[in-house]
Amino acid sequence: MIKIAPSVLSCDFSKMGEEIKHIDLCGADYIHIDVMDGHFVPNITFGAPVVKCVRKCTQKVFDCHLMISDPLKYAEDFAKAGADIINFHVEADSPIEATIDKILALGCRAGLTVKPATPAEAVFPYLDKLSLVLVMTVEPGFGGQIFMGDMLPKISAIRAECVRRGLSPEIEVDGGINAANARSVIDAGADVLVAGSAVFGAQDVAAAIESLRG
Ligand code: DX5
Ligand code: ZN
Repeated sequence: MIKIAPSVLSCDFSKMGEEIKHIDLCGADYIHIDVMDGHFVPNITFGAPVVKCVRKCTQKVFDCHLMISDPLKYAEDFAKAGADIINFHVEADSPIEATIDKILALGCRAGLTVKPATPAEAVFPYLDKLSLVLVMTVEPGFGGQIFMGDMLPKISAIRAECVRRGLSPEIEVDGGINAANARSVIDAGADVLVAGSAVFGAQDVAAAIESLRG
C-alpha cells in the first residue's frame, strides 16, 4: 500500500494546525514537515517550536525532513517536539553514523535523504539502520518545482540494493510529484510519495491524495 505524505510547505502557515487536521481527515498517511535553515538550502521555514505546537493537531506520523546543516545538533529538539521520523541529508555537515545513532537513541525512526546530484550508493553503508530513505526529485529548498524524471533509476537502484540485502526501509520520494507522474515513481520502487503543491493546490484534497496512490 502506497503512503502519501503531504508536505505542509505548501499550506497556509497562518492556519497550519487547521491545514494539518484537514489533510489528516482527507487520508494523509504521514505529515511531511520541511525544516529549512537558510544555510543548507537557500530558504528558511520554521523550527522545532512550531512542530511542537502543531503536534497536538493530529495523531498521524510526523515525517520531519531536516534541510539543515547540523542535524546532529538539532535532532533532540525535533524528537522532543514530537517527530516520529527524522530525515536528514547525507550531504549535511554532521557525521552520518553518529546522527543516525542519535536519532535512534531518541526513540525516533531514522531517515537518510539524497539530493539529486548524490548517487544511490551514498546511502548503502547505512541501510541496515534506516527506517526510510528519501530520494529528492527536485533541488531541496522550494515547493512547486518540476519533477526530475532522471531520478527514477536512483529509486530503483536503492530498491534493488535493499532487496539484495534483505532490508526493507521505506523508500520515500519528494519533489514535483503529481497525479501524472506518481505511477512512474511507484513503479520505480517508492513506498511513500511526498506532495506539496499537488495536495494543497487541489480543490478536493481527499481526491488529490487518492489520485497519487497510482
Ligand atoms: C522541497 C521539499 C518538498 C516540497 C515538495 O525542498 O522538501 O517536500 O515541499 O513540494 P512539491 O510537491 O510542490 O514539489
Ligand atoms: Zn521535503
